Amino acid sequence: MAHFLDEKNSAETVIGRINDDECTPRFRQIMAGLINHLHDFIKEVELTQEEWEIAIDFLTRTGQKCTNERQEWILMSDTLGVSMLVDAINNRRPEHATQTTVLGPFHVVGAPELDMGTNISLDGKGESCHFTGRVLSTDGTPIANARIDVWSDNSDGYYDVQQPDIQPKWNNRGIFTTGADGAYNFRGIKPVSYPVPTDGPAGEMLNGMGRHPYRPAHTHVIVTAPGFQKLVTHIFDGEDPYILSDAVFGVKESLKAPFTKNDNNDCEWHCAFDFVLCPD
Ligand code: BEZ
Ligand code: FE
Repeated sequence: MAHFLDEKNSAETVIGRINDDECTPRFRQIMAGLINHLHDFIKEVELTQEEWEIAIDFLTRTGQKCTNERQEWILMSDTLGVSMLVDAINNRRPEHATQTTVLGPFHVVGAPELDMGTNISLDGKGESCHFTGRVLSTDGTPIANARIDVWSDNSDGYYDVQQPDIQPKWNNRGIFTTGADGAYNFRGIKPVSYPVPTDGPAGEMLNGMGRHPYRPAHTHVIVTAPGFQKLVTHIFDGEDPYILSDAVFGVKESLKAPFTKNDNNDCEWHCAFDFVLCPD
């Protein structure tokens, strides 16, 4: 029988209003789970009226901070570890396949398609690095026609799209396509650590928790190949001081690459990393 809401029955009362004739089973499952956890949380911390008002203001400002170029909700999800949890649930891959990590907000579709070996650093800043490796199937076979879309920050810790008036367009971005041997190589820079944007509510939240906003140095990669699952990942500098405290929890042990000093080449550093894709 329907009843009025009280402290004890609150979740059950709200869930009881769901009309199963007009609600898909999946939406019912999601909403009932959300209502249960939300009510349990409010009860556990005994949220005060003042804290509720602060939360409403915080959530309002989070929405207001969003534009076509800025997604504060995703940043909130990233810094709370939710993006990486969703990624983990949706990308359960065998241990020897390259693991996935967050896409992040700075990918741009349509980067230049370049010949192997091209230097993607257009601003002449930073420590040069030669990236080499192969795209392989989980059975070890080289994958031909794999597209490797890479992007990274410049040596000041900004992506080109964050500094359109300062950096050349497509700075530190490019797409490379493998031949029959599955091999790739390109030149760029050894990436540097940088803070996620802190001028909004996500920054306030990190600050309130005494957390720093830095991501350890990484180069972003999306690898796609016909017949294989898409791989969205990073190559991390395993020696970065923030490697154990990434602000968005994106690091995985297997994504730490060695960056080695390179005396016999035109670049100061060398980074070798193979991408192992799962068949569809
Ligand atoms: C990035 O790596 O580009 C990134 C990821 C999550 C939040 C902010 C930046
Ligand atoms: Fe990044």
